[in-house]
Amino acid sequence: MTLTPLTQSLPTALTLPTPLGGELVNRVVRLGENFELGAGLAHLPRLALSSRSYADLEMIATGAYSPLTGFLGEQDYLSVIEHLRLADGTPWSIPITLPVSREDARQYSGQVLLTFGGEAVGTLDVSEQFEARKDFEAREVYRTTDPAHPGVAALNAAGEIYLAGDVTVFEVPRGSFPAHHRTPAEVREVTLARGWRSTVAFQTRNPVHRAHEYLQKVALELVDGLLLHPLVGQTKGDDVPAGTRMQSYEVLLSQYYPRERTLLSVYPAAMRYAGPREAILHALSRRNYGASHFIVGRDHAGVGNYYGSYDAQEIFSAYTPQELGIQILKFEHTFYCQTCGQMVSPRTCPHDASHHLVLSGTKVREKLRAGENLPPEFTRREVAEVLRTAYQQPS
Ligand code: ADX
Repeated sequence: MTLTPLTQSLPTALTLPTPLGGELVNRVVRLGENFELGAGLAHLPRLALSSRSYADLEMIATGAYSPLTGFLGEQDYLSVIEHLRLADGTPWSIPITLPVSREDARQYSGQVLLTFGGEAVGTLDVSEQFEARKDFEAREVYRTTDPAHPGVAALNAAGEIYLAGDVTVFEVPRGSFPAHHRTPAEVREVTLARGWRSTVAFQTRNPVHRAHEYLQKVALELVDGLLLHPLVGQTKGDDVPAGTRMQSYEVLLSQYYPRERTLLSVYPAAMRYAGPREAILHALSRRNYGASHFIVGRDHAGVGNYYGSYDAQEIFSAYTPQELGIQILKFEHTFYCQTCGQMVSPRTCPHDASHHLVLSGTKVREKLRAGENLPPEFTRREVAEVLRTAYQQPS
C-alpha cells in the first residue's frame, strides 16, 4: 500500500537510520551449518540463564543492542557507569553484564554452553571474569542503593562475578507473542516495505491509556509510522502482565489507529526501572530497530519517586544529536482536562488542577482490583474492559 504524502512533514531520511556502530549485529548461528562448537554438546560447561539474562542474550544476538557482540568486559563496564559511554566512546548507558555466583564462576572459561529452561540456546566465549561493583553500579545507574528499588533489588539478588565475552544464539527466541515478535532486521524490513520515511518508536510497560495515545498521535502528525514497541520481558509484580497488555493493544489498534501507519511489535528486554539511564538504552536500541524518532514523556522508565519527572529527557544532553542518531520527542505531563474537553499538557491548557483528571498507577490498580471501570477520559472503554476482565479473573 502506498502512503498519502503528508502535507506537512519534517525533514525525513529516505533510508532508515544506521544502527549504532554502523552495522546491525547478528549473532544468530546454525549449529552444524555455519557454526561448530569447540567441544561436543555434552563436554562444554553449561550455564543456566535467568530470564533477564536470556532476554539480554537475545537483545545482543539479534542486534537490538548493536554494537554489543557480547556481555561487557570490565573496561566497558566501568566506562559505561562513569562516562555513559563504552570504552571506545560510543554512547551507552546501562552495563549489559552476565552475573554468576563466585562459586559457579570457577568452572567457566573458554566456550560455555548457555541454556534456558534446560535447552541449549547459545554460547559464550568467556574473555574475562570480573567482580561486580554493585554499590557503585547502583548509585550511578539507578541513582540509589535503596534495596526497595526493583532494579537495585535485581542487581543485589544476582551473582557477584560478571562473565564477559562474545555470544551466539542457535535460534531467535519467539517468546509468548510469536505473531508480534520481530528482530530489528525484521522490523526494518516491514517499515521499508510500508514506505515509511520516518518512524516513531513508543516504549511502554503499560496498557496504552489516553495520555499515551495522545503522544503517539501527536507524533504521527509529523512522522510516517508508529512502532508500538511494548516491553514484554520481566517487569515488577504489580505491573499489568504482558499478555493482558497485548490484548489491550490489539483492541485499541484495531479500532482507533490507522492500520497502514502502525506496527505492533514486542521489545523482549527486561525492565530495569533505571529512569534516565534506561531512557537512553531504550532510545539507542530503537534506533537499531530502525526508528528515526523516540518518545520520552514524563518519568520515562521511572518507579516510585526516585527520579525527577523530566530527568529522563535532560540526560540526553550528554550526547550530540549525531551521536544519538535518533531524534527524541520530549513531552510534558499529559492528562484530560474537563473544561478543555480534550487531552492537554501544561503547555496547552490554561486551567488549574481541579479541572484535570490524573490517575496514578497505584490508583488505577486499586480501581481494577475493586472491579471498578476506569473512566473513559483516562482509558478507552475497550481497553478498560480488557483490564477489568483480567483483574477479575482469579490468579
Ligand atoms: S515506561 O516505564 O515504559 O516509560 P509507561 O508505559 O508508563 O512507562 O510510559 C511510556 C512512555 O509514555 C514514556 O515515555 C513515558 O514517559 C510516557 N508517559 C506515560 N504517561 C505519561 C503522561 N501522562 N504524560 C506524558 N508522558 C507520559
